Amino acid sequence: PKLTADFKLVLLGESSVGKSSILQRVQNGTFDDTKSSTIGAAFVSKKVSKDEGSKLVNLQIWDTAGQERFHNLTPLYYRNSNMAFIVFDMTSIDTFKKAEYWINELETYKSDTNSGLILVLVGNKADLVSGACDFEDEIRQFLNLNKNISRYFTVSAKQNTGLVELFGYVVDSVDES
Ligand code: GTP
Ligand code: MG
Repeated sequence: PKLTADFKLVLLGESSVGKSSILQRVQNGTFDDTKSSTIGAAFVSKKVSKDEGSKLVNLQIWDTAGQERFHNLTPLYYRNSNMAFIVFDMTSIDTFKKAEYWINELETYKSDTNSGLILVLVGNKADLVSGACDFEDEIRQFLNLNKNISRYFTVSAKQNTGLVELFGYVVDSVDES
């Protein structure tokens, strides 16, 4: 029998940055131009193989709601997670500021109770910016100051770019957690 491992992933970030669209793309290979906002949170599970199929990873993914009225629920979902994607929209500095807010929250939580939590910054909607976004300097500066952020990926749920790399990193991280 294959060895199996559970891995808990949570997606955080401002409403409309594309958290649910990233999961829909990865799960179903599809994309919706008009997608409804997540209410409360949604759970997705996905099995992926690792080490040439000798190991099966059971990804347990919580897709949180970005709307402000659900913020008090969010700690329920990042508690006990192995990894968090903090997602922003590459066309909106406001959503990047919100990502900074969540990373600061998670850093406190990480140092207090869950030192193994892996923080990944994800810039989505790369299809709408040519190459880098307008606030690339702020992103670089933030990454330099925050050594708790393991990686930064730019992706597009719409055009399906960067997601193989992003989820490859998730699978690669399973043994280390
Ligand atoms: P909440 O559930 O409210 O927190 O939002 P969310 O982060 O889950 O965003 P959602 O996936 O619902 O996407 C919001 C909107 O952005 C939708 O209209 C999507 O079609 C659009 N969108 C998502 N990803 C992309 C992308 O990569 N490129 C472009 N151009 N649009 C995207
Ligand atoms: Mg959503």
